[in-house]
Amino acid sequence: MNLNSTLDSGITAPDLIINKFEEEVLQGLTETPKRLQSKFFYDEQGDSLFQQIMACPEYYLTGCELEIFSSRTAELAGNICSSGEPFDLVELGAGDATKSEYLLSYLANTGVDFNYLPIDISGNILHVLQERLERKIPKLSVIPLAGEYFEMLAQTSLRGQRRRVILFLGANIGNMSEEEATSFCETLREHLQPGDLLIIGFDLKKNPRTILNAYDDAAGITAKFNLNLLSRINRELEGDFDLGHFEHYQSYDPETGACKSYLVSLSDQQVSIGGQYVHFAKNETIYMEVSQKYTIAETDRLAERSGFLPVRHFLDSKGWFADICWKAI
Ligand code: AVI
Repeated sequence: MNLNSTLDSGITAPDLIINKFEEEVLQGLTETPKRLQSKFFYDEQGDSLFQQIMACPEYYLTGCELEIFSSRTAELAGNICSSGEPFDLVELGAGDATKSEYLLSYLANTGVDFNYLPIDISGNILHVLQERLERKIPKLSVIPLAGEYFEMLAQTSLRGQRRRVILFLGANIGNMSEEEATSFCETLREHLQPGDLLIIGFDLKKNPRTILNAYDDAAGITAKFNLNLLSRINRELEGDFDLGHFEHYQSYDPETGACKSYLVSLSDQQVSIGGQYVHFAKNETIYMEVSQKYTIAETDRLAERSGFLPVRHFLDSKGWFADICWKAI
């Protein structure tokens, strides 16, 4: 869709996107308990704060997954190429592809016949990525796809009978509830053919303190990341949140593996969002995000529930993170 197109009613597509944002924000803040959706974290400031989180000493996830991709590249490649047939390597939410770049250069430099199809909602990110990868790995064929995961995945299946290998890294599956994760994996499976592969990153259950600290860093970057959503509402929806009246609170339940973030209202207060008022009682919470942690057995069950067979588990040296290869059955 052309984002600048004007509809018959005179409403432009960006207006519709803002309306959707406003609608979902107001809906979440008038529910009991209140909630906001973490998909809205990533505006320009949110992206930059997330980059800072990834550089925090407590946030181990990025380093662990990078270790898997940088030190076990040949094994990952061997696993993907075992049938010897050409394939399309599709990455969901490719971003800057820091981790997958190890695999891409290994595959390209060993003469494997494959195309790289990064999918991201941001066409701009993909453009920058394509330029960088084509400069660094001249043998690589990059076919960027800007849009929603499943719409773009449907397009990749129109490209012919090539086998597909999907990458879904970064523990993004963790930002879904158990039910959402199951339905996401089932939908993913519906878009694939038997024998296609999926490599999916999971953050594993570990010492609860290590997990809690990763989402409650000493420098307070995660707190800023959460509070930025209130700033975004102020900026984009004419809100008047006073950020000094909200505090970040992180919880981790080692039994369920749910690591949840909240914002707590520090006073009894009224906030206006585009002229509509929302009341917050003192100590009332807004549920912001879940970062679900798994055991290997739980990931195996998720695979089975959604039509995949786990074929290989790649863990980092501390056993904190797993990139797992599933085969569509
Ligand atoms: C993007 N996602 C996997 C991150 C996570 O670990 O759940 C988002 C995040 N939220 C707070 N810190 C990082």
